[in-house]
Amino acid sequence: MEQVTFTILRYDPERDPKPYYRDYQVRITKPGMMVLDGLNQIRWEQDGTLAYRRSCREGVCGSDGLNINGVNMLSCITHIEDVVKKGRLVIQPLPGLPLIKDLVVDLTDFLDKYFLVKPYLITRTPPPARERLQTPEERKKLDGLYECILCACCSSSCPSYWADPDYLGPSALLNVWRFISDSRDEGAEERLGLLENRHGPWRCHTILNCIEACPKGLNPTRAIAGIKRALVERKF
Ligand code: FES
Repeated sequence: MEQVTFTILRYDPERDPKPYYRDYQVRITKPGMMVLDGLNQIRWEQDGTLAYRRSCREGVCGSDGLNINGVNMLSCITHIEDVVKKGRLVIQPLPGLPLIKDLVVDLTDFLDKYFLVKPYLITRTPPPARERLQTPEERKKLDGLYECILCACCSSSCPSYWADPDYLGPSALLNVWRFISDSRDEGAEERLGLLENRHGPWRCHTILNCIEACPKGLNPTRAIAGIKRALVERKF
C-alpha cells in the first residue's frame, strides 16, 4: 500500500452553502502510520485550510475523536492499515454534534452534561488529618470508570443521544457512576436525585454502540446498568 485516499468532509460556514466531501491522496511513508499522520500530511503539504483537533497524539487528551469509515475512534491511535477499506478512508466529524468547521464539532453541550453530574468528590464529613483513604479493593472498583478521556466517541455514536437533545449520554453517565462508586464520595444521593428523570439512564436502550466506540475499552452500558440498579434500590 503506497497511498490511501482520504475522503474528508469539508465545511466552512463562511464560504460553503453546505458540507461536501473532498478526496486527498496520502502517501504511506512509514509502517504503522496513524490516521492523524495522514491528516497532518494533508494539512502541512496539500491544504492548510483543513481544520481538525489534536494535541497529545497518544490517546490521552481526547481531542481528536472522528468518525472513520463509519465508526467513531481517535485518529492518533488508529493505524491506517487497520481501518482502510478498498484503499479509502471516509473521515467525518463526530455525528450528532453541531459542526463548527470541517472535522471540528462543538463540544459545549457534551461538556455541560458532564459538569451537570458533578464529576468530583462530594464530602460532608470532616476531613481526616491526612487524606481520605481507600482499601485496594475499594480502589479497584474504579477500574474501567476513571479512564474516560471525554473524547465524546461514545455519546456521539448513541442513537438515543441523537434523538433526545437533553439525554445526558453514555459519557456523562459513566462519569457519574465513577463517583457514585467511589468509597470516599458522600454525594451519591444528590447525584441519583439528578438522574431520576427521562433524560437520565432510563433513556439508554442498551444499543451498545458506546462500547464499540470507546477507544479506552470502557463499558458505559454496564455503568448505566449500575445507575439503574441504584435508582431502583433507592426507591424500595
Ligand atoms: Fe490526544 Fe488523540 S491527540 S487523544
